[in-house]
Amino acid sequence: MELRPVSAADLTFLAEMVLLAAFPPGPLPEGASEMPHVTRWLEDWGRPGDAGVIAWHDGERLGAAWCRVLADVPARDAEGRPLPELAIAVAPAHQARGVGARLLDGLARAASDVGHTAVSLTVNARNPALRLYERAGFQVVGRDGGRLTMVKSLGAYEA
Ligand SMILES: CC(C)(COP(=O)(O)OP(=O)(O)OC[C@H]1O[C@@H](n2cnc3c(N)ncnc32)[C@H](O)[C@@H]1OP(=O)(O)O)[C@@H](O)C(=O)NCCC(=O)NCCS
Repeated sequence: MELRPVSAADLTFLAEMVLLAAFPPGPLPEGASEMPHVTRWLEDWGRPGDAGVIAWHDGERLGAAWCRVLADVPARDAEGRPLPELAIAVAPAHQARGVGARLLDGLARAASDVGHTAVSLTVNARNPALRLYERAGFQVVGRDGGRLTMVKSLGAYEA
C-alpha cells in the first residue's frame, strides 16, 4: 500500500468516502450527497490549507484522509486561529487492516507541510474509531453531547 496526495482526479472517490464517514452503515438518507455537512468537505477543493492523502494499492484507491478549515470551527490553537478538521474513511473491504493508521500519519505530515500546527476532528464517543485516533496521538479537548472534539499537535512533523 502507498500514500499519495489528493488530486482533483480523486474528488469522486472523496465523495464516496465522506458518505462513509458522515453516515452510519446502511441505506443513505435521500439527498445525502447534497447535505451541507457533506458538501462542505469537498466544495472548491484546493483552497489554501486543504491537505489530503489517498491510500492506494495496485491502482485501486483504498481510503482517504483529508483536512480543511471549515466555517464551523470545532477547535482553535493557543492564539485563537482556527484549526483544520480531518475527515477519514477506508472502503469497507479494506477496513481493519492498518490503512486508517497509515492515512492518519500521512495526513499529519501533509497538514504540517501546508503550515498547520495541529489538526482537529470530531467523533461520536461510541465510534470504535476513537481508539484509533487516541493511538495516533489525538487527545479529547471538548465534548458536546455524544460528540467529542479531538486535537493532535503536529510539532513532531515539522521539517
Ligand atoms: C475509521 C476507519 C477510517 C479506520 O480505518 P481502518 O483502516 O479500518 O483502521 P485501522 O485498521 O488502521 O485501525 C483499526 C482501528 O480502527 C477502528 N475501526 C476498525 N473498524 C472500524 C469501523 N468499521 N468503524 C470505525 N472504526 C473502526 C478501531 O479503532 C480499530 O482499532 P481496534 O482494533 O483496536 O478496535 C475505517 O474503519 C472507516 O472508514 N470506518 C467507517 C467510517 C468512519 O467511522 N469514519 C470515521 C468518522 S469520525
